[in-house]
Amino acid sequence: QNESTVSITVVGASGDLAKKKIFPALFALYYEGCLPKHFTIFGYARSKMTDAELRNMVSKTLTCRIDKRENCDEKMDEFLKRCFYHSGQYDSDGNFQELDKKLKEHEGGRVSNRLFYLSIPPNIFIDAVRCASTSASSGNGWNRVIVEKPFGRDSESSAALTRSLKQFLEEDQIFRIDHYLGKELVENLSVLRFSNLIFEPLWSRQYIRNVQFIFSEDFGTEGRGGYFDNYGIIRDIMQNHLLQILALFAMETPVSLDAEDIRNEKVKVLRSMRPLQLEDVIIGQYKSHTKGGVTYPAYVDDKTVPKGSLTPTFAAAALFIDNARWDGVPFLMKAGKALHKKGAEIRVQFRHVPGNLYNKSIGTDLDRATNELVIRVQPDEAIYLKINNKVPGLGMRLDRSNLNLHYAARYSKEIPDAYERLLLDAIEGERRLFIRSDELDAAWALFTPVLKEIEEKKIIPEYYPYGSRGPVGAHYLAARYNVKWGDLG
Ligand code: BG6
Repeated sequence: QNESTVSITVVGASGDLAKKKIFPALFALYYEGCLPKHFTIFGYARSKMTDAELRNMVSKTLTCRIDKRENCDEKMDEFLKRCFYHSGQYDSDGNFQELDKKLKEHEGGRVSNRLFYLSIPPNIFIDAVRCASTSASSGNGWNRVIVEKPFGRDSESSAALTRSLKQFLEEDQIFRIDHYLGKELVENLSVLRFSNLIFEPLWSRQYIRNVQFIFSEDFGTEGRGGYFDNYGIIRDIMQNHLLQILALFAMETPVSLDAEDIRNEKVKVLRSMRPLQLEDVIIGQYKSHTKGGVTYPAYVDDKTVPKGSLTPTFAAAALFIDNARWDGVPFLMKAGKALHKKGAEIRVQFRHVPGNLYNKSIGTDLDRATNELVIRVQPDEAIYLKINNKVPGLGMRLDRSNLNLHYAARYSKEIPDAYERLLLDAIEGERRLFIRSDELDAAWALFTPVLKEIEEKKIIPEYYPYGSRGPVGAHYLAARYNVKWGDLG
């Protein structure tokens, strides 16, 4: 009787995210033995579906880890038997009461803990939160809600959303997800920095010239144009994924690894930043391009994108942190769709060695001779440090070589998907990798003024061919701060 059970309801179960990420992540957790003994998963959506149909739909996207294939089918069957479906409207108390009844049957009188994953568009999620919390919440265990971005479009709409959420939930019940925080190399950032003596002492304006956060996709917004056009790349990637990484990178040492201590430091560093200025942003949009006989579409060719849309699919920005540690150091961000390569990286470029004895051996390009630490978040995870090294031989010539930690070579285990880490944390009540409301406010405060200016002035994006390296303006922006973008490795 005292045993507890966890019921996970995926609201918006027939959507893409649920199919591609949430159910597979839950299965992976089950496979790894990370889910509690008593658990039930419910899919909730408007479409009519039987349990069998949900299981069939979900089964198509489940996979087992490469290193553990033996009892895969058996495990999948066991998992699917614990998945159920309830069809209902997102704003119907009655439908959520029916769900509640079914959950209770499964919980069998145990202490019931309930997690709702809201994988639905923002215009309906307050209704769903209201219904879930008034009609389907547990009376004797915890109730938590995972919400997906977008958390509003600007400071005002985000604050309004937070106010509405807080009518029904306490802050500690709200798990705002930013899946970049669940990526292995992003989580490792703090380990790298705080548990290695050779990095933390160098982590300041004294030794670091600039830091770059680069996100690049080699495909466009195909199929998602309707959503994307309302947001654009600055809201879709920079204000959340890249800024979250920046905050972890640049924060002061937290008092402990406790979620509140870490989030306190992230808020502090975000609040020390200068709101982004229009002259420090370049925006771009991809245009059609024909290569090898194949024509790749322009952003505006997407039928769901309004004709003549000026929404940026690329942006580069220079940001600054006005505190003692980072005064004057440019933090550059670059994010784009339909570029030449897919990848996400953090690049830390160090200063020149003062009075370098080897300047002559390095040649004239001193910039090329500075150390650079590269954290390749994806794909093919790696951390490498570019150092100057003598080219073997009788002469004295230096070149830059890599001290290389290549994950695939070093670790045989497959890296878990970000959603696995984050779902497990939400079940365990670990809030470290979720975004607190004051962090969100601070993040919007940095981008809202410039977003408004771009939209009010109808700034024309710089057009770049699909599959290219993006607008040349990004290079001019970096050059203004004496920076050269690193090339995705
Ligand atoms: C999402 C964005 O948050 O992240 C998408 O809305 C983007 O536009 C995606 O494609 C990238 O995530 P990942 O994990 O594939 O790099």
